[in-house]
Amino acid sequence: MVDVLLGLQWGDEGKGKIVDYFAPKYDIIARFQGGPNAGHTLYVNGVKVVLHQIPSGIFHEHTQNIIGSGVVLDAVTLSKEFDKVAQMGIDARKNLCISERTHLILPTHRALDKASELSKGVEKIGSTLKGIGPAYMDKTGRNGLRVGDILDKNFTTQYIRLRMKHQRLLDSFGFQEDISAWEEEFFDAIELLRQFKIVNGEYHINEQLRQGKKILAEGAQGSMLDVDFGTFPFVTSSNTISAGVCTGLGVAPQKIREVIGVTKAYCTRVGSGPFPTELHDETGEKLRVVGNEFGATTGRPRRCGWIDLVALHYACMINGVTQVVMTKADVLDEFPELKACEAYSIHGKQQATVPYQMMKTAIEPVYRSFSGWQTDITGVQEYAALPDGMKAYIDHINGFLGAPVTYISNGPGRDQIIPSSKD
Ligand code: GDP
Ligand code: IMO
Ligand code: MG
Repeated sequence: MVDVLLGLQWGDEGKGKIVDYFAPKYDIIARFQGGPNAGHTLYVNGVKVVLHQIPSGIFHEHTQNIIGSGVVLDAVTLSKEFDKVAQMGIDARKNLCISERTHLILPTHRALDKASELSKGVEKIGSTLKGIGPAYMDKTGRNGLRVGDILDKNFTTQYIRLRMKHQRLLDSFGFQEDISAWEEEFFDAIELLRQFKIVNGEYHINEQLRQGKKILAEGAQGSMLDVDFGTFPFVTSSNTISAGVCTGLGVAPQKIREVIGVTKAYCTRVGSGPFPTELHDETGEKLRVVGNEFGATTGRPRRCGWIDLVALHYACMINGVTQVVMTKADVLDEFPELKACEAYSIHGKQQATVPYQMMKTAIEPVYRSFSGWQTDITGVQEYAALPDGMKAYIDHINGFLGAPVTYISNGPGRDQIIPSSKD
């Protein structure tokens, strides 16, 4: 069977830490979408590691990892990450395999991402500039190169043909930067990629399932960044929701069991786009400082605000969430008052649904207030020992979402996680 773990907000919910925590329960951790736009932070023996391309099960000896067909792969990022985990004693060639259908991010995709963002000016998406959008465009446009292609002796010719196409587009943007250094590192990284286990992803995974292996599909980004159901056009270019597991790994829907949604106890967003509960005041600044809210991939300060239960309820619905993990609960420890958005007021009318066009709609969040617990919870290990104020906050969220909060994360460390009594 396949369980899914994914983000319910706009990314950076703490998925990496939670996958790393759950990994020992699974035989395989599989990324099904996204690419190096992801930045998943784990603490391994107290050492901070940020993974962009490699699944978060890599540090567990008995866990295999898969980069699935729905991912877009930057060989250069993979190569840097390969070195990073090698320094920590892991040879990723042994416990990571890559689907031959996975699309490659080329140096020109990165250039096109940059050129496209520059051309949009103030209306830019705020992309991570990793080439995600252009790589997925080449996939749906039926031009892209895939991991399996690197084993073909004509790979360089295929690359040059696509590069020329990209060059014409770059010229039309007036993009003049020299990317020859990127190309050099790209071809070096392709050499390393050839040393990985390149598999027929869908047969490989289905065979593992037939043998009774347990798979955890690791989401990247968040549900509100889904290309179809997120805050379009301020989204990423893949299906980040649970449906993406089927198309990204080649597994049938009946194989999916639990859908574990991860949310912060508040809310953040990095990049442009609507964010109804964003706080532009000192409370928002306090969340950023206490929560250390700076992007794991780009270092950009994250926009911060209160938890948005309308958006979370929507995310639970489209994902079929069966349980919720709440992270960064400790960040709220010092706040005397907390708020949770329970409705959107639009032109004076309240609704509890997410409008299709959030950007052009003036949304006023309607809040419920909670008393803060003002207690340090970072050392708590049992649900019963959590402050009553926090339990009330969690109970309310349980009721609103209709899916139980089964774990509460109370710090970035591996052992800072509390199963709730509702588990
Ligand atoms: P991901 O992209 O969803 O894996 O999340 P990121 O790694 O981008 O961002 C989450 C950040 O929060 C990382 O710096 C984590 O180390 C940190 N983090 C995760 N869980 C907790 C938690 O419960 N409390 C605190 N204070 N930090 C956490
Ligand atoms: P993880 O997996 C937070 C955001 C970017 C931008 C938009 C589109 O760490 O949660 P893209 O580079 O995908 O074209 O950018 O999506 N974004 C993320 N925000 N966490 C992420 O990943 C993100 N990946 C992309 O900031 O607004
Ligand atoms: Mg992240």
